[in-house]
Amino acid sequence: EPVRTFYDAVGGEQTFVDLVARFYREVAADEILRPLYPEEDLGPAERRMRMFLIQYWGGPRTYSDERGHPRLRMRHNPFRVGPLERDAWLRCMHTAIASIDSTRLDPPHRQALTEYMEMAAQSMVNTPI
Ligand code: HEM
Repeated sequence: EPVRTFYDAVGGEQTFVDLVARFYREVAADEILRPLYPEEDLGPAERRMRMFLIQYWGGPRTYSDERGHPRLRMRHNPFRVGPLERDAWLRCMHTAIASIDSTRLDPPHRQALTEYMEMAAQSMVNTPI
C-alpha cells in the first residue's frame, strides 16, 4: 500500500494552488519583493513555485520534468536576498499558510510547513545586509 505523503494528507493539489495563489497575491502588494520579480506577469513565477512545493512534499514531479534539478540557491543568485527580503518573503508565506483552514492543515502539518519555509527562506539569503 503506498505511503500517504504530506501532499495527500493536507488535501493534495488544491491546497498548494490556494497556498501559492495567496502567497503571490501578497508578493504583488509588497514593495520590497515586487521589484525583484523580473516579469510583469507573476503567473509563471507562481506556477514554478507551486510545482516545486508540490514535488517537494511528495506530489507529482512536474517541476523537475520541466525545470530539472531545483538548485534553488543558484537560481536565486541573480536576486538580492538579504535579511529584509527574507523577512518580507516569510511575512507573505505566513499570511498564505494562515489562509489555509485547519480542516486541511492540522497543527502538526501547519508546524512542519512553517518550519520548512523558515529554514528554506534562511538558506536562500545571499547578501549579508
Ligand atoms: C524564483 C525571490 C525564497 C522558491 C524566484 C524569483 C525571485 C524569487 C525574484 C524569480 C521569479 C521567477 O521564477 O520568475 C525570492 C526571495 C526569497 C525567495 C526574495 C526570499 C527568501 C524562496 C524559497 C523558495 C523559493 C524559500 C522555496 C521554498 C522559488 C522557486 C522559483 C523561485 C521554485 C522558480 C525557480 C525556477 O526557475 O525553476 N524567487 N525567493 N524561493 N523561487 Fe524564490
